[in-house]
Amino acid sequence: MINTRALRDKPTLIGKRVRLVPLGPEHTDAYFAAGLDEEIRRLTGTHHHLTYGEAKEWCRTRERSTDRLDLAIIAADDGRYLGELSLYAVAPENESAGYRIALSALEFTGRGLGREATRMVLEYAFEHVGLHRVWLHVYAFNMRAIAVYRSCGFSVEGRLRDSLLWEGRRHDALLMAVLENGFCGS
Ligand SMILES: CC(C)(COP(=O)(O)OP(=O)(O)OC[C@H]1O[C@@H](n2cnc3c(N)ncnc32)[C@H](O)[C@@H]1OP(=O)(O)O)[C@@H](O)C(=O)NCCC(=O)NCCS
Repeated sequence: MINTRALRDKPTLIGKRVRLVPLGPEHTDAYFAAGLDEEIRRLTGTHHHLTYGEAKEWCRTRERSTDRLDLAIIAADDGRYLGELSLYAVAPENESAGYRIALSALEFTGRGLGREATRMVLEYAFEHVGLHRVWLHVYAFNMRAIAVYRSCGFSVEGRLRDSLLWEGRRHDALLMAVLENGFCGS
């Protein structure tokens, strides 16, 4: 069985270049702004246009969720908001959860920040929450994300054909997962 307290009591995780902190009301503006970035929207297949009210409500309610973990990714040096990540769809009986991450702008990508954040949250998921399996969906065109996930121990388990329709073109998604004994930490 998993340690549900490790999901309920939101952690702050300290890394070399990023800090992961509970997503909260203070992140509303940055969270909303990230939702406007067209390239991030494409990479995450986000059709929905978030309103400011929705962003505010989402950030306000994250700390009281008991069945998932939503963390903001903060630059360790200057405290800048870099993006957010979640462990969601937690299935306690199966000791499994889904994972998603989105840096908030292209300028933050390709610097090793997403990999560090992913490793940090996976370590927490396996060692503190007690998960056995963490899975995710990634679009097959998102080579940077796939490279990062592979380097953390994720393997491709399947292909979800034509799952995204984006500007008239269909794209496959990959199902990837990492098991606790396959996790590659730092
Ligand atoms: C996906 C994401 C979390 C990755 O984090 P990141 O900090 O940008 O990635 P990193 O800098 O840690 O690593 C990028 C790796 O991808 C590799 N890479 C980049 N472009 C690549 C390409 N076209 N083909 C193959 N590998 C590529 C880099 O070489 C690097 O690997 P290396 O360090 O072993 O050389 C981040 O880019 C992000 O949030 N992007 C926007 C939203 C998104 O795509 N979310 C994921 C949805 S599933």
